[in-house]
Amino acid sequence: MKRTERSTNDWQAADSAHHLHPFTDFKSLAAKGTRVIVRGDNIYVWDSEGQRLLDAMSGLWCVNVGYGQQALIDAATEQLKRLPFYNSFFQTTTPPAIELSELLAEVTPPQFKHVFFSGSGSEGNDTIVRMVRRYWDVLGQPGRQVIISRRNAYHGSTMAGASLGGMQGMHAQGGLPIPDIVHIEQPCWFTHGQAMSRDDFGLKAAKWLEDKIIEIGADKVAAFIGEPVQGAGGVVVPPDTYWPEIQRICDEHGILLVSDEVICGFGRTGRWFGCETFGYRPDLMTFAKGVTSGYIPLGGVMVGERVAKVLIDQGGEFHHGYTYSGHPVACAVAIANIRLIQREGLVERVRTELGPYLARQFESLAEHPLVGEAQTCGMMGALQLVRNKASGEVFDPLLEAGMVCRGHCFGNGLVMRAVGDRMIVAPPLVMTTAQIDEMVALIRQCLDLTLADVKRRGWL
Ligand SMILES: Cc1ncc(COP(=O)(O)O)c(C=O)c1O
Repeated sequence: MKRTERSTNDWQAADSAHHLHPFTDFKSLAAKGTRVIVRGDNIYVWDSEGQRLLDAMSGLWCVNVGYGQQALIDAATEQLKRLPFYNSFFQTTTPPAIELSELLAEVTPPQFKHVFFSGSGSEGNDTIVRMVRRYWDVLGQPGRQVIISRRNAYHGSTMAGASLGGMQGMHAQGGLPIPDIVHIEQPCWFTHGQAMSRDDFGLKAAKWLEDKIIEIGADKVAAFIGEPVQGAGGVVVPPDTYWPEIQRICDEHGILLVSDEVICGFGRTGRWFGCETFGYRPDLMTFAKGVTSGYIPLGGVMVGERVAKVLIDQGGEFHHGYTYSGHPVACAVAIANIRLIQREGLVERVRTELGPYLARQFESLAEHPLVGEAQTCGMMGALQLVRNKASGEVFDPLLEAGMVCRGHCFGNGLVMRAVGDRMIVAPPLVMTTAQIDEMVALIRQCLDLTLADVKRRGWL
């Protein structure tokens, strides 16, 4: 049977019989049936029932140039025909891997001249753990093992990625975190800082890092890792004072600063990388997702000169790598994607036009009775749902009000994600302002439906 000839029911039956989905309660998904997405174009996807959805999550924070970009399709096709795979292990490499390395050195901040490729963001963060510990070993300070991260951070789902992340549910399964990874509180003003100004709270949240370094002893700390904006944690945009102070603290104690740019990289915040938007200078950066706009898996680590010099000049062999490090087809797609971002001026458009426009639209959504806080950064936004707008009281988490809202979004042609009761978007960077209007109108409609729904359920 050809794929297109199968009915939705048939797809769902086969899916629940054989496919275990990520981050999913398998049994309850099997009971509900999954949604089968069959096609995409520009900022829209279609399911197997023919319903069109405005994809305000860019797939999973990755389809930044939108669906159906011919330049990326051609790049993959040509490279598949010419050389679908070769490795970069044994004194070999391929032209796309070389050219992408060159291009990444061009678009990343000036301290980055080297890249180590992986297949995903999680693998990239595994590389980070290996690399920062190796760096301190080579420098004769093997005691510097501890990596400090933050609660509610998301750094992937491998053992190291999940350990670096600060998600309680993940830590509760599989004996995580692995040793020598510790967490401080996240810089979430809505949850932890409402009694003070955002700027004061930013300094206070950064101080949590300094306190932790002093508690552990700086001579035991290898690195601090953070996302510029915590994405999967609910688009938590830190106060402007936060990152410069984090930089000062890392500098003062000599510890490496790692920016996980898997979501924020390649223009999402209005600069090429989130660290540029927030004014800090990382030693290492993880990237994935937007590097290929999700058309094909690719990730990696940008290695700043401070680390690269030590590893290259004194490190000897680095016993680490992946079969798909520098995969030629993935690299060819990444080159086409980055060239497209450059050609269309997407980073600048996000900074000067789309980001400010989205911010204004979200300010208007902040007036909705269900919204306690609206935040944006570039082409990312979050709406915190609240039970009582005046007091900021949130819903009982067990009610899962966010999931109710998400249900209305899906039902009305909008992909919007719920992280607890924070409703988030990260739409493609190729949107027009008219499409932002369309998205915001759908969000407003879904908020209204959610309000009526929670009233009906007696939750207000
Ligand atoms: C900040 C961040 N780091 C790492 C990852 C993991 O990337 P991947 O799912 O490609 O392994 C993600 C995924 O969402 C992410 O948001």
